[in-house]
Amino acid sequence: MCGIIGYIGDKQAQSILLDCLKKLEYRGYDSCGIAVAAGGVEVYKDALRVEVLGKESPRFDGMAGIGHTRWATHGEPSQVNAHPHLDCTGRIAVVHNGVINNFQALKHQLTSEGHNFVSETDTEVIPHLIEKYYDGSLEKAVEAALRDVEGSYAIIVLVAGETKLIAARKDSPLIIGIGDRENFIASDVPAILDYTGRVIYLEDGDIVVVTKHNTKIRRDGTEVNREEHKILWSVEEAQKSGYEHFMLKEIHEQPRVIRNTLVEYTRATEPIADLAVMRDAGIESLLMLACGTSYHAALIGKYIVEELLRTPVRVELASEFNYYSHTLAKTIAIAITQSGETADILKAMKKLKEAGCRVIAVANVVGSTASRIANQTIYTRAGPEISVAATKSFVAQLMVLYWLAMSYSKADARRLANLLVELRQLPGKVQQVLDDETKIMEYARYLSKFDNVFYIGRGINYPVALEGALKLKEISYIHAEGYAAGETKHGPFALLGSDTPVIAIVAKDKTYEAMLTNIKEIKARRSPLMALAEEGDDAVEELADSVITVPRVDTMLSPVVNIVALQLLAYYTAKERGCPIDFPRNLAKSVTVE
Ligand code: BG6
Repeated sequence: MCGIIGYIGDKQAQSILLDCLKKLEYRGYDSCGIAVAAGGVEVYKDALRVEVLGKESPRFDGMAGIGHTRWATHGEPSQVNAHPHLDCTGRIAVVHNGVINNFQALKHQLTSEGHNFVSETDTEVIPHLIEKYYDGSLEKAVEAALRDVEGSYAIIVLVAGETKLIAARKDSPLIIGIGDRENFIASDVPAILDYTGRVIYLEDGDIVVVTKHNTKIRRDGTEVNREEHKILWSVEEAQKSGYEHFMLKEIHEQPRVIRNTLVEYTRATEPIADLAVMRDAGIESLLMLACGTSYHAALIGKYIVEELLRTPVRVELASEFNYYSHTLAKTIAIAITQSGETADILKAMKKLKEAGCRVIAVANVVGSTASRIANQTIYTRAGPEISVAATKSFVAQLMVLYWLAMSYSKADARRLANLLVELRQLPGKVQQVLDDETKIMEYARYLSKFDNVFYIGRGINYPVALEGALKLKEISYIHAEGYAAGETKHGPFALLGSDTPVIAIVAKDKTYEAMLTNIKEIKARRSPLMALAEEGDDAVEELADSVITVPRVDTMLSPVVNIVALQLLAYYTAKERGCPIDFPRNLAKSVTVE
């Protein structure tokens, strides 16, 4: 996944491009570049972070330009593979987010027609195709070029001597930012919020001509109108609000995220998703699909939905689901994805739609591709999540799953009423965990010395162990594994010892006694044992080397308070190890390639 930006207006483009690119670095940050129309097209690019490129690049005078921050797919991060890419004349510059699947064939064809290629990227074929088809109309040349291209793309085209930018999208996100005598094209909203809150979301197949005065969107050769949205997010929301890292800010936003989601749903007159069709269509089961942290939310969703709806739920990793060859009829699928752009989940959603299934997306980014594919989209109201490691979006996804299950629950009214009371108290309980941060910092200092850690849990907290381990892996580079506690005897026990701490999530539910037994067994094998347990749990205090306490909540809600404590633990452990918390190596906010 890369970040692309375009600017055309009355101001010098260079500094604006660099400023917007900085806000897109969470999308990919192994190299970057800009091109400015200054008479000809001036380009500066390299395998650098935007900050450094801004310092090193010569000054270009021009009021139109494009920029790119990269997450390499074809060709390693380098000066020649960085974007923008040019045609043979050096007059046509292109930035691209996506993958051109047939680029080898196109490159071969164009080379035989006399075009010279300098990079290993797929993207470089685009400016050469535009050059090939250019006969005075830039729009027509871009349309023709895109007819030859197979794959996903969001592109912006800058041509010397032209007072416009051309952009297009297919299976990659792209928005227009409307300004006063200036306009922006960007991969995502936070990039341009400092300049405008007026945004148009482009649809797949749209091609747009942008001048400093207006924008003209065409699709299949016909002019189309797209709705303008007023972005309610503040600039601050998209920025760190005084926290050292986006991740810590987003962890601390969770009480508000829970409250906002609850307010939105309790006010809703209609159920948030139409599951009534299940009964009418005789659908007996639900299928949940996701990747990464969203997959762990789906696993917890299984416990919630099966208990409240008494309907079997199958949970699948989207990347593996795409290899299954089973019949899919009579299934309602719930695709959970923060970004709404993860390639594996989009592919699975299309497969399900083609098989005639009803697909409901649970997404955080309004206007994302997943929301276009789905029959219905439930938006998690987590706001922009910048840090690569997902935190608040995970809790917002759980809120959606609680509400969905409660809306169609077969549980008795008293159980539901109790759950609703507990849900309303949840923001306060999460705040309690956040207020207890110092205790977690202490343990993080201890944990930061180890290279291998196990997380264990049972029942609804087994996926919490998986997510806790994923957080530690993602940002502290400690090798951590989450395990169903009952499974540890079948292998992981071999790795126990004084150099391998175990973090045990102990809930006061039907799994309690079995967890205490596990703790004793692990202690007997000399592994340092840290327990996450309810306040006032003397039995655990006695057994464990240290305990992080969380407020008492209904078991079904315990994943929320437990995961917030584990997010903080991972954060402070990574901080202790001096890791680049918001931009961990080799990871990206969402992976738009398979
Ligand atoms: C990874 C992110 O690339 O994608 C994770 O680093 C995320 O944080 C995963 O959980 C899935 O992304 P999404 O947007 O589909 O939920």
